This record gives sequence, structure tokens and C-alpha cells, in this order.
Amino acid sequence: MGRVLSIVTTFLKIEDSSSWYGDVYLTLYGQLSKPAAMATDAPRPTSQRPNSPHLTVYRWSWPMAASIAHRASGVLLVGFVPFYLWLLHAMVGSQAGYDYSYLVLHSAFGRLLLWLVGSALIYHFCNGIRFLLLDAGVGEQRETMIAVARWPIYATGAGALLLAIALL
Ligand code: HEM
Repeated sequence: MGRVLSIVTTFLKIEDSSSWYGDVYLTLYGQLSKPAAMATDAPRPTSQRPNSPHLTVYRWSWPMAASIAHRASGVLLVGFVPFYLWLLHAMVGSQAGYDYSYLVLHSAFGRLLLWLVGSALIYHFCNGIRFLLLDAGVGEQRETMIAVARWPIYATGAGALLLAIALL
């Protein structure tokens, strides 16, 4: 909220306090930009904790790996969409286009791509269900979360193996 206000006032050029609206801005922004617990002028306590994204300082855990893999698989799936649309377009356009997309899909590159994206989809689906259950409040206990976070990874391992056999 404070940031939105800051952008609006910068745009309207009312951030100086030489006018009545400048005073209103400073009062409002000063309050909005401070967390309630720190709404004083006392110096902020210094913290030795690292700021994000210093990934290397964290100890790896299953939930962390599962979460990173969910984002990576989501990005891969989105990246595949243009290629998928191109394939569909080529397939229904003409006989030559169909033959060409058939060749691409059955080449080593096409099979590898299908395997990668297929595995990403299996993982994203399984872990997505886990995330949705967590959002619904199911399995939020620390031990349960740590134990269950590895299930989608195992399921993807099995699914990726079956997919590789099917694509060979
Ligand atoms: C197959 C069923 C799917 C399920 C159940 C599912 C579920 C989810 C869930 C629950 C999230 C939010 C994760 C969070 O809370 O951080 C998410 C994020 C995302 N999904 Fe899906 N999804 C599915 C399919 C797809 C597909 C087909 C694509 C792409 C074409 C996709 C792309 C993404 C992306 C890019 C994100 C954001 C990742 C991030 O920023 O961390 N998803 N998905």
C-alpha cells in the first residue's frame, strides 16, 4: 500500500512537504510504510539473518526442493506452450505440415522434449495437488509436510521411467 501511494504521489509530484498535501502525504506514507511494531523513530534492530535470495545458506530439505521443482516445472510447461501451439497449427494446416510435425515428434529431439515436458507435467500435477491440499489446511503439521513433500518426487521418478519406456 505504501509503495502504491509512493508511486502515485511521485507521479503527481506531491511528495514535498512545502504544501498541505505534501504534509498529508508524509504523515500517511510515514505510517503506512512502518510495520505497527516499529512505528517509532527508534533505530531498527540490526539482524544477522541473510536476505533472500541467498539460497546457498539454507540447509536443503524435501519441502524446499519440492517447492523449487514446482516453480521450475511450471516455467518449463509455460515455455512449452508456444511449441505445442506451433505443432497443433502445423498438424491441421496441410498434409506437408502434418508430416513435418510427425517427423519432429518422432525424432530423438522430439522424444526427449516430450519426455521432459511429460515428466514436468506429472510432477507439477502431483505436487500441485499437494499444494492445493495444504492451501485447504490438510497436512500442515511440520512432520507431515516433510514426509509428504517427497511423494510427488517419487511419483515423478516412477512416471518418468514409464514415460521413457513408452517413448522408446
Ligand atoms: C495439471 C494440473 C495442474 C495443477 C494441479 C497445478 C497446480 C498449481 C498450483 C497449486 C500452483 C501454485 C503453487 C504455489 O502455491 O506456489 C501452480 C503454479 C504454477 N503453475 Fe500449475 N498446475 C497445473 C498445471 C499447470 C500447467 C499445465 C502449467 C503451464 C502450462 C502450469 C504452470 C504453472 C506456473 C508457471 C506456476 C507458478 C509457479 C511459481 O511461480 O512458483 N501449471 N500450479
